[in-house]
Amino acid sequence: MRRATAALLALALALALTGCAGEKAAAPALLFRYADNQPDEYPTTKAAEYFARLVEERTDGAIVIRVFADGVLGDERGVLRQMQFGGIDFARVSTTALGDDVPETKILQLPYLFRDGEHMLRVLDGEIGDALLEAIRGADVIGLCWFDAGARNLYTRTPVHGLADLEGLTIRVQESDFLSRMVQLWGAKAVQMPYNEVYSALQTGLIDGAENNWPSYEATGHYEAAPYYLLDGHTRLPEVMLVSLVAMEKIRALDPACEAVLLECAREAALYERELWKQQEVASEAALRETGVVVSALSEEERRAFRDAIRPMYEEFPPAEQALIERIKNS
Ligand code: GCU
Repeated sequence: MRRATAALLALALALALTGCAGEKAAAPALLFRYADNQPDEYPTTKAAEYFARLVEERTDGAIVIRVFADGVLGDERGVLRQMQFGGIDFARVSTTALGDDVPETKILQLPYLFRDGEHMLRVLDGEIGDALLEAIRGADVIGLCWFDAGARNLYTRTPVHGLADLEGLTIRVQESDFLSRMVQLWGAKAVQMPYNEVYSALQTGLIDGAENNWPSYEATGHYEAAPYYLLDGHTRLPEVMLVSLVAMEKIRALDPACEAVLLECAREAALYERELWKQQEVASEAALRETGVVVSALSEEERRAFRDAIRPMYEEFPPAEQALIERIKNS
């Protein structure tokens, strides 16, 4: 009896360590590509590497994922299109990239939706976040987990203290009409362009500013041309790890148990990313302040003016989704 228990325990342990796909593979059964448009040392890329390591360990080398950082596999929309045809297997993208294919995710682009980072993560880790991950299937890809990307702030080539200074400036936004609307409501001109084109657009003066979180502002070098950073915290755009349907089919065919292992690794990678994120946000802010970036905050009055200006974005949201906005606000 005792021996049987011991044998069972050993088996359970072996299964827990192996996860799926059986014995140590001599060569990977599946080799996948993972795209991220951030550089190697960025929190999302480190989390991608961590995810790849966990998957390799827990499938005993049967599934190997190679991470391609720095946008070498293309900009986020291009990556998404390639994933829909199975050309790229995994990616981490900003939720904005999904807005056209999965209108439900547009809700995450609403300015001033979340009170703070904790509020956002609570929503994403609950029923609403699960339902949005599920909705991502509408883009013919599978959403695995949510990453933190902090608050986005405006930065410009000339100082901006309020709406009057923004008037007539050209501000880059991600490829989203919804985000263009935000900038237009503030009285500026919006230009949509892919992330990797923003640096030269700022340098040449094609645009007067852009908006992003501290780590991106640092990693891209945008602060060199646009050294005025305004802490208006207008959006918190979470990021999402995706797997293509084609890759998921291959994983299930290898061993149906691998799907759960993959999900578990993704969730652990998300927790890891969120920890790295917190540290990176503080480190990037400190480094940039040291570099001489001019940081300013909005006065109470201006803060209200920024919020009031974008109110139509809430009102124009389809009535069916007003209840969801309320639920998020009250979470
Ligand atoms: C953030 C995000 C990127 C995104 C970029 C952008 O940096 O991490 O994935 O492409 O914003 O503004 O386009």
